[in-house]
Amino acid sequence: MFIALGITGCIGAYKSIELIRRLQQDGHEVQAVLTRHGAEFVTPLVVEAISRHPVITDMFQRAGQWEVEHITLARRAQVLCVSPATANIMAKFAHGIADDFLTTLYLSNRNPVVIAPAMNTAMWEHPATRRNLDILQERGATMVTPDSGYLACGEEGAGRLADLEQIVESIYTVTTPSSLKGRTVLVTAGPTAEDIDPVRFISNRSSGRMGFALARVAARRGARTLLVTGPVAGRPFHSDQVRQVRSAAEMSAAVLEWAPAADVIIMAAAVADYRPRQARTTKIKKTEGATVLELVRTADILLQLKAARRPSQIVVGFAAETDDIAANARRKMEAKGTHLMVANRVGADVGFGDSPTTFTLFRHDATPRQIEGKSKEEAAAVILDEVERLLTADSTTTP
Ligand code: CTP
Repeated sequence: MFIALGITGCIGAYKSIELIRRLQQDGHEVQAVLTRHGAEFVTPLVVEAISRHPVITDMFQRAGQWEVEHITLARRAQVLCVSPATANIMAKFAHGIADDFLTTLYLSNRNPVVIAPAMNTAMWEHPATRRNLDILQERGATMVTPDSGYLACGEEGAGRLADLEQIVESIYTVTTPSSLKGRTVLVTAGPTAEDIDPVRFISNRSSGRMGFALARVAARRGARTLLVTGPVAGRPFHSDQVRQVRSAAEMSAAVLEWAPAADVIIMAAAVADYRPRQARTTKIKKTEGATVLELVRTADILLQLKAARRPSQIVVGFAAETDDIAANARRKMEAKGTHLMVANRVGADVGFGDSPTTFTLFRHDATPRQIEGKSKEEAAAVILDEVERLLTADSTTTP
């Protein structure tokens, strides 16, 4: 994708360097447009070196070219993002003032606009800014609401540039067709942890990334997303509602509570099959010799859903296998009553975290599809494409 990035004059301008990098990592091209004040905070040279494009700073910098340049860029860029956006640029956009390259680009642009404001709290809360914000939103711009916190001016309050990932997510959302609009997608992610005593537990190697990618991509496609996640360290979740749980029992309760509202349920979590019969309230002390930990079965959430779900709901299961992938996936798909089974090979070094995901999609009425070496997000997109096909298919062909 080709992205036009406007950088205006406020302290958060330095964060645009990281934003350009982040978008490039996902394979996108970024053409930066610096306002005159923006160039006071971050030099054109730095932006040029990072973006690998000649940075545009002024309407008249290259005589003879400027008249066409903003039109060409407006046509070429699939999205215009302004980050950070000052109160001043929002006022100009809102009132159609076109006195430099960025404002002229805004006026000649017909593609989606993402604005990430950053300013002092008083300016953010000023009725003039609120009004301009309303005007821009009514016109279809997507606002990435600033965070609250410590500001460069030394005050605490609203106005700090939103988290980078939120800005990136907004860019992807406005450029993705809303094929899941009106649908609610419930996703589970991560491992569960089954406590042995106050300091020890049984868990597994799931990072949660597959589930998070599914929730993220579903949200980009316009779905309302409900995410139930097991214990994972510090990840941004990007979901309308998030429930953080610990044990299989807690995950089961959360899924069964939210399932009635869902059109699609995707069980990407690696749920424990066993838990200690009794979690001790005090730390178990070692003794000489071996010890035995008695484990009992947890409830199978997919089986619980099989009994409780509506016929119109699409259910997706995952099968992480070390061997006999196809046979195991088919057996689980039948036993657990899922429409789709995503099966992949796991081992000490494959199938977890950021490693490429190679998997096979099993459906009842189609030959299995082998998907090779995808990122978690690409894998999520393939799975959701299949879910969308099932949502529009005749429900009598589904289990
Ligand atoms: N699952 C579940 N509830 C459990 C365990 C698993 O809903 N208590 C779901 C997982 O989220 C996944 C699917 O079932 O979508 C397959 O999980 P897996 O643990 O691989 O399958 P099992 O049925 O436990 O089979 P096995 O132990 O033979 O691998």
